[in-house]
Amino acid sequence: MTTSFSFKVLVTATLLGAAGLVLAHGNVTPQEVDTGNLPELGDEVLIENPFREGNSHGDVNAQAVEVGESAYAGNCAGCHGIRAMSGGLTPDLRELTEWDDEYFINRVRNGTDRGMPSWKKTLDQNAMWAIKAYVESLPKPE
Ligand code: HEC
Repeated sequence: MTTSFSFKVLVTATLLGAAGLVLAHGNVTPQEVDTGNLPELGDEVLIENPFREGNSHGDVNAQAVEVGESAYAGNCAGCHGIRAMSGGLTPDLRELTEWDDEYFINRVRNGTDRGMPSWKKTLDQNAMWAIKAYVESLPKPE
């Protein structure tokens, strides 16, 4: 009898723990991103930010930054902080350099099992690279 009782307690505690974790992550309902007039990048995933000045679509950098700002606010700021000021609980995305493009796109597409959601079903790469362009436009952390 005692065994069965403590088993129930254990299960309940585990479920509560899981619920707590979900709540701690805040609202993660993905928000649709209107990528406006940004050039279509297609399905093949690029490994370098096309919207960075000097790159293939660098001429639309300003527009990408604008799209990225609202995409970031709606989908990433809840965990990574307003204007990417993370406060230390999640990685500070402003620390990523242009050499981290491939790492960035893979993380955003696939997520990790340590709290980073996968976005490949909800955001296309236009939105992802626009977010990167936005983060790059922000002042670097001190
Ligand atoms: C539910 C919370 C949450 C949301 C929403 C979220 N992230 Fe994350 N993100 C994390 C966590 C936690 C990590 C660290 C994961 C790890 O270490 O495995 C992370 C890691 C990352 C990394 C790797 C950074 C590094 O320095 O290692 C990138 C890039 C990233 N997120 C981008 C984004 C973008 C872009 C968005 C919005 C589209 C986003 N994240 C939304 C929680 C979140």
